[in-house]
Amino acid sequence: MRRAWSTPPRPTDRPVWELRNKQGFAVLVRHAIDGFRAHPPKGGMPALSGDEVRDAVFYMSAGRSK
Ligand code: HEM
Repeated sequence: MRRAWSTPPRPTDRPVWELRNKQGFAVLVRHAIDGFRAHPPKGGMPALSGDEVRDAVFYMSAGRSK
């Protein structure tokens, strides 16, 4: 069985993203910017703007949660 949590979700792993997308896009973006469990704030790249991180989340989640 696939694990939805605690491992970095790959953009190609659609079933995992379907589960995460249920939280809503705003929650995914907040977790990506602020950090979430093993996820570092801004993916460990503090120089990124919030808009850049949001765009990356949109790509990774395929925009389905919007
Ligand atoms: C700018 C680059 C990155 C973006 C936009 C990004 C985005 C995300 C998003 C949207 C999630 C799902 C959060 C949720 O389900 O609420 C996630 C999960 C996660 N990411 Fe990243 N990520 C980035 C870089 C990284 C890096 C560099 C690492 C590892 C060093 C990492 C490790 C993780 C882990 C471990 C999770 C799963 C957290 C959990 O559910 O326990 N991410 N990421």
